[in-house]
Amino acid sequence: MIELRGVSKTFEGPDGSAVHAVRDVDLQVADGETVCLIGTSGCGKTTTMKMINRLVEPTAGEVLVGGRRVEDLDVIELRRSIGYVIQSGGLFPHLSVARNVGVLCELEGWSKARTRARVDELLELVNLPPAEFRRRHPGELSGGQRQRVGVARALALDPDHVLMDEPFGALDPMTRADIHREFVALEERVKKTIVLVTHDMGEAFALGDRVALMDRGRIVQVGTEEDFRDRPVSGFVERFLAQHLESVGDGT
Ligand SMILES: Nc1ncnc2c1ncn2[C@@H]1O[C@H](COP(=O)(O)OP(=O)(O)O)[C@@H](O)[C@H]1O
Ligand SMILES: [Mg+2]
Repeated sequence: MIELRGVSKTFEGPDGSAVHAVRDVDLQVADGETVCLIGTSGCGKTTTMKMINRLVEPTAGEVLVGGRRVEDLDVIELRRSIGYVIQSGGLFPHLSVARNVGVLCELEGWSKARTRARVDELLELVNLPPAEFRRRHPGELSGGQRQRVGVARALALDPDHVLMDEPFGALDPMTRADIHREFVALEERVKKTIVLVTHDMGEAFALGDRVALMDRGRIVQVGTEEDFRDRPVSGFVERFLAQHLESVGDGT
């Protein structure tokens, strides 16, 4: 479980003024649940996510992972228990796919044989046949394949929690549709607690058990697709949906 209680983050802007990136956010993500954070650029999604794995420290409030305050946990321990996927995969271009996927296993001091077995298992899991992909470099992959490698790497140490920051944002619509299907199937098999950032409402509804819509640092509504469609809490939410509905799939 991931929980944010009254979490705020204020940065100092370039001219010394305060930037209220995140304001008083409360959010609970249950074990095995996927919550999608959505909102326009600059509304505070990435900052919210980075406070979960302590890439950013909150100005106020507390963050709990697995029932423990993250500030009380060893940061290395914490990050081991939280997979992290970023846009474009964040792969090391000079390393093979196998080394990219196995990098955390190597850091953990696993034997070569154990790492190799785990890498092959992960590549199978994300539909990249190991015999074909193990030795390739990121430059020899399509965008969709790079994202799959990023997902495989995040799952390497079998973390209970996974954070994904616009993981599929750079993909063309066809590839995204494929990846969405795979993601849902993968979720069923590995059952992680996931926070996924997106700016695509269709993606949020397709992948999230619930969606949290942010505006200027605040969460304005949290709920299921049905909650948003049938019970938008404000004019802002209605307008956001109306503007983003064309990106919502076939409505099934
Ligand atoms: N390290 C930082 N220093 C100063 N301002 C920042 C920093 N990180 C983010 N911000 C500001 O905080 C706000 C929220 O940013 P971010 O969380 O990245 O938004 P999103 O991911 O929703 O696009 C923006 O105004 C951004 O410019
Ligand atoms: Mg962002």
